[in-house]
Amino acid sequence: MHLVSRARAQLHGLPQRTARKIRLLPSRLRARLGRGGDDDDSFELHRVTRHGAAIEATLRALGERVADATWSLASVAHAPPALVFTDVGGRSLELRLHADERRAYARTRYFSLVYRGRGELDEPARALLDRVVEAVRGLELRRDAREALRRPALTRVHYYPSLWRAELRPSLVCNHQCGFCNSVDRAGTDNTSQGIDDLLANLELITRLPVLSVAISGGEPTLQRRLPELIERLAACGVSVELQTNGMALAEREYTTRLVRAGLRTALISLHSARPERSDDAITRLPGAWSRTVAGIDEAVRAGLRVELSHVIHRHNADETREYLEFVRRRWGRAALVRLAFVAPTGDARAQAAAFIPRIEEVVPHLVPALAYARRARVRVLMIAYCGIPPCLIQPEHGVSEVARARGDVTFSDDHRKLPACAGCTYERRCPGLWTRYLELHGDPGLRAMT
Ligand SMILES: C[S@@+](CC[C@H](N)C(=O)[O-])C[C@H]1O[C@@H](n2cnc3c(N)ncnc32)[C@H](O)[C@@H]1O
Repeated sequence: MHLVSRARAQLHGLPQRTARKIRLLPSRLRARLGRGGDDDDSFELHRVTRHGAAIEATLRALGERVADATWSLASVAHAPPALVFTDVGGRSLELRLHADERRAYARTRYFSLVYRGRGELDEPARALLDRVVEAVRGLELRRDAREALRRPALTRVHYYPSLWRAELRPSLVCNHQCGFCNSVDRAGTDNTSQGIDDLLANLELITRLPVLSVAISGGEPTLQRRLPELIERLAACGVSVELQTNGMALAEREYTTRLVRAGLRTALISLHSARPERSDDAITRLPGAWSRTVAGIDEAVRAGLRVELSHVIHRHNADETREYLEFVRRRWGRAALVRLAFVAPTGDARAQAAAFIPRIEEVVPHLVPALAYARRARVRVLMIAYCGIPPCLIQPEHGVSEVARARGDVTFSDDHRKLPACAGCTYERRCPGLWTRYLELHGDPGLRAMT
């Protein structure tokens, strides 16, 4: 199917206002929309980088070499690099090159090769896979060729039409080592991050979208030398720029001033504990990091940025929410908004769920009194919807939930689930429920309809 008509078909079934916004896109960009991401209502826009073009040429040559009378090369993909073959009967077989993957069909020195296809592998299919494995082994002997296969192949932009918002991850490199990080999947492929140079070269992917705000996340974006330039170019297009950061770099006054002059308006700064040793030893695993982050928040407030603190409740801090909120009040008063999340079972947290994801029933006895304190002391707190705890579980303090504050219906994705007990809830059309993965891990924490 032609790309534009496929994009149109993808629009089918979306809420009307979302589809209308996407139709505003120039057809050249609309054609690159790919459904996916965290949220039903999100799309990925991508453009093949120059590394991607080289990866494609290498894979094509390899695929054509191993094709035979039964299997012909149908297409190649970039991230992860993959070859798709079809046989004379229309069967398809895809072989992906991952960096490290347990379910691999075969391993070469540098790649795990994973196949996808329907049914049992018959002899011709197995022979084809074996030829690909051998060809990859030959290819990776050359250092330039194997490194080329691991470079970022796509510049990706995540687009949330209903929020008029885009998210960028210029790199997944980070100087913190949070074990629960939802962006890093140490078992995943190397080929998923973007380069800031590629982003800057393809900025119209973002600026031609109907967006009002752009979040720059990562990885740690302040490690990118060209970050001020990225902020400046986005701000010059009239979008509001938010930086998601661990805040350490902001401790340098000159740097923060530079970002503000470039046009930065909001900093969402991760601070997961009020206890320096706990934070450095058990959470970010970087000595001295807590003090730098706190100094960075001081500077962000001083510079007049809109400051939000990302506090992810997980196994290593679930007992200290009140202490944390008291600390925030003493240090920054109402200048900082605390965005509370409950650890999402994605990325590394998914891989090590038992170590990081507590039962919600264990968290609530600490959380609800802490929220009551915040209400009395007028600490600004928001429990986020998508990665938060549903309002029914934090009663009577459910007023802090984004779900309770949202207007209109919200579309949520397949990775969340509600239970029969949710039927008829006041928040039925705004609450995402819980991550399916959480329910599989710990079962129902007592979800119930609020009326
Ligand atoms: C992955 S970080 C990257 C940006 C930056 N390096 C930082 O430390 O904030 C982006 C945001 O996701 C949050 N986060 C990380 N892991 C999470 C998880 N498992 N569940 C929910 N939020 C998470 C962080 O606190 C931060 O606000």
